[in-house]
Amino acid sequence: MSSQNGNLLSVKDLRTYFETEDGTVRAVDGISFDLERGETLGIVGESGSGKSVTNLSVMRLIPEPPGRIVSGEIIFHGQDILTLSPEEMRQIRGKQIGMIFQDPMTSLNPFMRISKQLMEITQLHLGYDKDQAYRHAIKMLDTVGIPDAEARVDSYPHEFSGGMRQRVMIAMALSCEPELLIADEPTTALDVTIQAQILELIKNLKRDTGTSVILITHDLGVVAGMSDHIIVMYAGKVFEQSPTRELFAQPGNPYTKGLLKSVPDPAHEHGRELYQIPGLPPDVAHLPPNQCPFAERCYRVEDICRREFPPFVKLNDEHFSLCHFAGEVYAQSRVESDAKTAGANRRVAGTEASTGGGTQR
Ligand SMILES: Nc1ncnc2c1ncn2[C@@H]1O[C@H](COP(=O)(O)OP(=O)(O)OP(=O)(O)O)[C@@H](O)[C@H]1O
Ligand code: SF4
Ligand SMILES: [Mg+2]
Repeated sequence: MSSQNGNLLSVKDLRTYFETEDGTVRAVDGISFDLERGETLGIVGESGSGKSVTNLSVMRLIPEPPGRIVSGEIIFHGQDILTLSPEEMRQIRGKQIGMIFQDPMTSLNPFMRISKQLMEITQLHLGYDKDQAYRHAIKMLDTVGIPDAEARVDSYPHEFSGGMRQRVMIAMALSCEPELLIADEPTTALDVTIQAQILELIKNLKRDTGTSVILITHDLGVVAGMSDHIIVMYAGKVFEQSPTRELFAQPGNPYTKGLLKSVPDPAHEHGRELYQIPGLPPDVAHLPPNQCPFAERCYRVEDICRREFPPFVKLNDEHFSLCHFAGEVYAQSRVESDAKTAGANRRVAGTEASTGGGTQR
């Protein structure tokens, strides 16, 4: 995310609020990130942290009212999306930016055949005639692994299983080979086998078409093998931003450390109860501005966290953390990681020694 020239998307100090009876919900509150061409960015965080609202803002699909993009810039291809007319935005949506929505049924029309829903996209954006669009619809279903696509293309959404509908959504999002694919929890509510297939499908399509991807999920395990960089969101803010490998190896934020600890690790956690960060995410309509939003749940909290909003600390050129003690948490993660590696090496050496002894006898 460092190069300026290679950026396809730059989000700068974006704020999206909702006016509700309960007050102003600061769903996204001053977030910034860049996405390079061909890169996959993972956005993670617990429920309500602002992941979907961030990306609905990029698509300019925030319901107004009650929502409103209060300030910021969303630079796509060098122009600020927030200054475009609705018609210009419609041209970008579906063609240059494709989105797989969190709930497939909200974006599939239950009363329209799947063929028609797929055809509309290429007729609108690529000027295909009916015949071309129909053939393209079959090809797309085939690409996303719908068996017997030709026979099934005229089905209605309810005739497909959840996993199949998710594939149709992906087919729709990729119909025009967008430069940017936003996938919002593309595997939630799917069983583990289908989940793996869908992720593999996104990986392959990215490899074949060079599409940039934003992958949104509350599950750090899912983004581990998929993304180049990760941003961790909490209460509408970016809490940590880092290359994926470093985030896992040496996190610099207590919230990220909590999320990482909650990822099931089959090698070590077998039979153990899974860790959960204590408490619940805050109500973003009533957050005091002069404190860390994570203070009530943080193992590292000190008085200053309840008095001052934390700084966004640069840990290295590509790694940032929103925390009063970012440097210390980062250094501690290094110590823990070194200890883990040393322990693993000792175990391997022990195994080799005992195996070696056995062979000699
Ligand atoms: N239409 C809306 N009206 C009022 N508040 C909204 C609306 N849409 C979202 N919000 C609020 O904005 C905040 C961020 O929501 P968002 O959907 O972005 O969370 P998320 O990180 O995607 O969570 P999840 O993991 O559950 O999908 C939440 O507090 C949510 O209640
Ligand atoms: S600023 Fe304080 S409360 Fe917030 S994450 Fe850092 S240590 Fe925890
Ligand atoms: Mg969401």
